[in-house]
Amino acid sequence: MKVLLVGGGGREHALAWKLAQSPRLGALVAAPGNPGIAAHADCAPVKDGAVDELVALARRERPDLVVVGPELPLALGLADRLRAAGMSVFGPSQAAARIESSKVFAKDLMARHGIPTAAFRVFTRAEAARAYCRELGAPVVVKADGLAAGKGAIVCASLDEADRAVALCLEDGAFGDAGRTVVVEEFMTGEEVSFFALSDGVSALPFGAAQDHKTVWDGDRGPNTGGMGAYSPAPVFDAAVQERAMAEIVRPTIAALAKEGCPYQGVLYVGLMITSAGPRVVEFNCRFGDPECQAILPRLDQDLLPVLEAVAAGRGLPASLAWRREASVCVVAASGGYPGPYDTGVAITGVEEAGRLAGVTVFHAGTARRDGVLVTAGGRVLGVQALGGDIAGAIARAYAALDRIAFPGMHARRDIGHRAVGRP
Ligand code: AMP
Ligand code: GLY
Repeated sequence: MKVLLVGGGGREHALAWKLAQSPRLGALVAAPGNPGIAAHADCAPVKDGAVDELVALARRERPDLVVVGPELPLALGLADRLRAAGMSVFGPSQAAARIESSKVFAKDLMARHGIPTAAFRVFTRAEAARAYCRELGAPVVVKADGLAAGKGAIVCASLDEADRAVALCLEDGAFGDAGRTVVVEEFMTGEEVSFFALSDGVSALPFGAAQDHKTVWDGDRGPNTGGMGAYSPAPVFDAAVQERAMAEIVRPTIAALAKEGCPYQGVLYVGLMITSAGPRVVEFNCRFGDPECQAILPRLDQDLLPVLEAVAAGRGLPASLAWRREASVCVVAASGGYPGPYDTGVAITGVEEAGRLAGVTVFHAGTARRDGVLVTAGGRVLGVQALGGDIAGAIARAYAALDRIAFPGMHARRDIGHRAVGRP
């Protein structure tokens, strides 16, 4: 089989690495890929948002399957364009991808179908939004409707902060069109889990859960990032909670999307809050999490390719998947300054040495090769992943590997996975 993989981050490196282990893979083409992905694929220099060029590339390459990693091309309708050209695609249609690209769509869908989530209302006028913030009371959450590069959800500790968040979106236009409509919602307390489920449009299959560490500094302090590390499995998400999430959230959501004319084919990322009243939805995404994917895929104990193919073909999913018993941890090495402004083009050392350690895989996220030298090319540079007999063992291996890697300005959290140590 020939596969075209769209994307060029750590998530896509993990997908490429896993697909490359498939005996059924003939050729892998990645767009744009990265130096890590290049070990498994021919990389074509086409950006993930360049839909016309991606369609042209797919017409030239004639892949048997297209796997779309990031949300941007899905929100722009890449899957629809490829399917219209007769291709098999892992990734939802533009209409189904609204589950991520429009918070209003996602919240209204949940409200219509009784799917548990935070109480909310939708606003385009600041005055009304501020009044509802007062009705809910602080803490309260203000969210831009559209895609805002992970910065569109503002958790406000006070009503003053909420007023500023409302002004930022509706009066200052800080998120452009993405923030012209806002969702104001109830603040939920509990532990957060990223849960993944595959769907062929009709049925749904659990694909594991992970816990992400969103803030930049240890102890969950500092500004939010795309994710500084993840571990899997997540002890709080046991078999009973998973079954409840499937029954109360995932299956109803997949059924709702099908019923409303936009069947979902791909991976549904369910951001959950495990509250005292059970799992409730924080957000949906239309793709794998990054870095959750890098933590989960090494635990999959079977060929990924036929599973993605079944999703894309809409021809029924296997009843279950085989998972290794080991725990997995992925620690992100980030550029100095990230999530704020940062330098790129800085030389990286130690990646190969780290990757030779037992149980360790180093996934490239924001890297480039310049004159044969591996350099930084993004905020999140590498994801250092390790398997271990338990979570503590995986943590020890991941940090032993991370400590072999260096570049000027590099920073990483030192507490990835610690929350899970010693828990049943
Ligand atoms: P989102 O972009 O919707 O995932 O929100 C980003 C982060 O904000 C989440 O991962 C949560 O930590 C937090 N958050 C969003 N909505 C809520 C909520 N209703 N209650 C508590 N925390 C929230
Ligand atoms: N790690 C969070 C995300 O992928 O959205």
